[in-house]
Amino acid sequence: MSNTLSAICQSADRSLTFPELEPCTGEEASDLAAVIEYVYQFCKNNAQAPEGGLYITYDYDFSQKNIHIRTATDLPKKKVTRLSTSSYIHQESKQCVAREWVFDFDGKTEKYYTPRMALFPPVKYFTGMELEIRSPHGENLAGPRPEVVWDHWDSHDTEINNDVNTYITKIHPKIVECVEKIGQISPQKRLTILDIGGGRGRLAEKILEKLPEKVKEMVILDKSTSAYKAARQVVRKFPEQLKVKQMDVVEEKLTQEADVVILSGVLQHTVLSLSNAQAVLINCHSILRNGGYLIIASRADAIFTAYSFEQLNLKVLNKTLSYPSTEKPERSFRTHSFYVLQKTG
Ligand SMILES: C[S@@+](CC[C@H](N)C(=O)[O-])C[C@H]1O[C@@H](n2cnc3c(N)ncnc32)[C@H](O)[C@@H]1O
Repeated sequence: MSNTLSAICQSADRSLTFPELEPCTGEEASDLAAVIEYVYQFCKNNAQAPEGGLYITYDYDFSQKNIHIRTATDLPKKKVTRLSTSSYIHQESKQCVAREWVFDFDGKTEKYYTPRMALFPPVKYFTGMELEIRSPHGENLAGPRPEVVWDHWDSHDTEINNDVNTYITKIHPKIVECVEKIGQISPQKRLTILDIGGGRGRLAEKILEKLPEKVKEMVILDKSTSAYKAARQVVRKFPEQLKVKQMDVVEEKLTQEADVVILSGVLQHTVLSLSNAQAVLINCHSILRNGGYLIIASRADAIFTAYSFEQLNLKVLNKTLSYPSTEKPERSFRTHSFYVLQKTG
């Protein structure tokens, strides 16, 4: 790799990993250690046999944090480098029947099964690379796909629900910020952007309003008729740059090459089945230019893990996003899948 390209990749790494909202103070780090120590003691005192089927895993990477806990009164504190916690559910009732906890102490792991118990470390403790939410083998957690009439998604301005609102107020602005940073990484270049499942064009509108000079062409692709009609109104504002095409990306192959491909609220278990999501991901990968970026954001749990992306030579620059919660004041931050990936081969 040339020095210049290597420098570009380095700077991409830094700027496209979204930092924690508030830096974690030493006091907070010791609070977090206390929470983890409490969980560890809970595991020791409530260990049970494994039960149920694996449902979902929260994987916390603490390798860059100074989290030390006491595992026994007569032993010195140990550094926790990773904690994975998975819920196990009863196959029929889908109720959580057990939890698995894997503590990693600098490479030495200890595994416990306990009764149901939640752990919600505030996400301000984490950067965009520390928390990963996984389902077993990328399994579609929602089971059979729910009946969602996509023509109703975001199709009315008067009744924007919480789900849509989270995209509008939290996720879209971050995607715009991401595209802006991608633009800064290669200042000479004007970008071709595809917004797959782009709905009525809200995100495209924000990107074009904020970065008119950076976008050579932006294309919204969506299968919904009402989204298509609404997006055509947005095209009128940017006739030179914005196009919209009604298309089912599961049924049809993408052909246009792109520098940036956005999948906002699309690669998630409530929208696509696993096999369809895989087909869409591979399709997007094939039309992405080498060095180009894929932004996969979802409010619901994501279908894929960092591992699946790495298998496709997609370098994982960011995984999650934290933001102040407006819905649950008692938990100040929430996190969701926010993958920023760069095609490296
Ligand atoms: C949850 S909405 C997200 C909309 C928009 N991207 C946003 O961020 O607000 C999912 C969108 O994916 C579109 N969609 C679902 N399956 C699709 C498919 N097979 N081909 C094209 N679009 C699809 C739906 O019509 C819907 O507009």
